[in-house]
Amino acid sequence: MVQIHGYVYVLALFLMIPAAAYAQDGSVQQKGIAIFVEKRCYTCHTVKAESAQIEAAKEAFAKSKGVELKESAEDKDESKGGDLSNIGADRTQEWLTKFLKNPKDYFKDTPDCKKLAKKKERKKFKGTDAEFQDLVAWIETLKSGNKQEAGFESCLKE
Ligand code: HEC
Repeated sequence: MVQIHGYVYVLALFLMIPAAAYAQDGSVQQKGIAIFVEKRCYTCHTVKAESAQIEAAKEAFAKSKGVELKESAEDKDESKGGDLSNIGADRTQEWLTKFLKNPKDYFKDTPDCKKLAKKKERKKFKGTDAEFQDLVAWIETLKSGNKQEAGFESCLKE
């Protein structure tokens, strides 16, 4: 048993090394998806156009941390945050940058909208500037062509 544990431990170490290198000099897509997974965005949002890459990143992340990750939004309540496959076409870079850091600013002052704003505010982006840049750089490339009707459009100020 001890031997088996030792083996698993060494294997885990091996898996961690490529995972770290991968995060540092991957493509825009690899870096962005790594943050999307790390920050658990996938628990409420799908990116159907790139779901295979997201699943692969989830697996790599789970292995590197030795944890099991929650299921993706797709498996559960899809209405949670919606699919972001075309978000780069639907929103400008400026909008995305501000919204992800300060979602509350974007919602109207009606009671229902404030409730929704609170929900999203709790999920505003928290992380380093470098992580945020990697995330937004990738999100901007998401232009699948399938326009999404954002469910919360009526709550946005503009
Ligand atoms: C707990 C669930 C939850 C998590 C986690 C979450 N979001 Fe959201 N997100 C929402 C909800 C709710 C909305 C508002 C949209 C709606 O109600 O349809 C939203 C809206 C958005 C929008 C605007 C969508 C549009 O159509 O304009 C973007 C972009 C977005 N989220 C990105 C992210 C990113 C990136 C992360 C990870 C850092 C993240 N979200 C984490 C629930 C979540």
